[in-house]
Amino acid sequence: MTPADSKIDAATRLFGVFGDPVGHSLSPVMHNAAFRTAGVNGAYLAFRITDIAEGVRAVRALNMRGVSVTIPHKVSVMPLLDALTPLARNIGAVNTITNDDGMLEGDNTDAKGAADALARQTDLNGKRVAILGAGGAARAVAFGVKEKGARVTILNRTVEKGESLAAALDAAFLPLTDLRPDRYEVLINTTPVGMTPRIDAMPLPETALAPGMVVMDIIYSPLRTRLLETAEQRGCIVVDGLGMFVGQGAAQFERWTGKPAPLAEMTRRVAEALTPS
Ligand code: ATR
Repeated sequence: MTPADSKIDAATRLFGVFGDPVGHSLSPVMHNAAFRTAGVNGAYLAFRITDIAEGVRAVRALNMRGVSVTIPHKVSVMPLLDALTPLARNIGAVNTITNDDGMLEGDNTDAKGAADALARQTDLNGKRVAILGAGGAARAVAFGVKEKGARVTILNRTVEKGESLAAALDAAFLPLTDLRPDRYEVLINTTPVGMTPRIDAMPLPETALAPGMVVMDIIYSPLRTRLLETAEQRGCIVVDGLGMFVGQGAAQFERWTGKPAPLAEMTRRVAEALTPS
């Protein structure tokens, strides 16, 4: 199917993102571009959902094929589904619902999205990976890189929260202020520090960045965070938040359609949407 053929008809399957807010979500642009490129008869919309139980009932009532779940519903959606993948259960959060003939399965593709984006730059097996932050995003990223054989250290401002995540992962923990550059080959920021509008902020001092390190930021607004700018100046290899975002979306696309995701086109369309015209 070419883009010109991509009309909505009686066979079109409905997809969407459930969150609050969702007004700035890039998922519709990314998934609709993927559907058109791969010839999938689907339509993907953003739904501002305040009551997630009602949202899940809508998936069943409308026979939606797939839903992306975002803040604040990633945990509260779990008991409303019929099945969870082992990874979603381990991470304790769902970002993907797939409707297989009325059976709703919850999965988490954030882990794979992050790990695949990094793995395009470096083999993670045996690498020492420092993860800044201990929230839901850190948890997904940590499970993803661990699955590829990385040795994870969690660094967090609040000690108890960091220790608790490290214990769940069987990983090491250090307070954020104890970061030493020579101890890690990979560093990943999962905190919101540096996100729009406070774009001048850095989650760590620049002396924590050593040449040759792979530095990833999961923030994608802005795409070039101060952390990544500084890391690049200091001779690090940088991976921006687009990689993880498109990676989690690509894994959703493949689960929903059974087709390989058109990664290049998805990346291009999201980058375009992020670039002010
Ligand atoms: P998410 O689920 O999106 O990961 P979260 O659960 O709010 O969001 O987690 C945000 C993480 O960023 C937390 O680990 C938080 O540290 P604390 O546990 O100390 O709160 C971290 N974080 C947020 N703002 C920060 C800041 N200004 N400096 C350092 N860490 C920060």
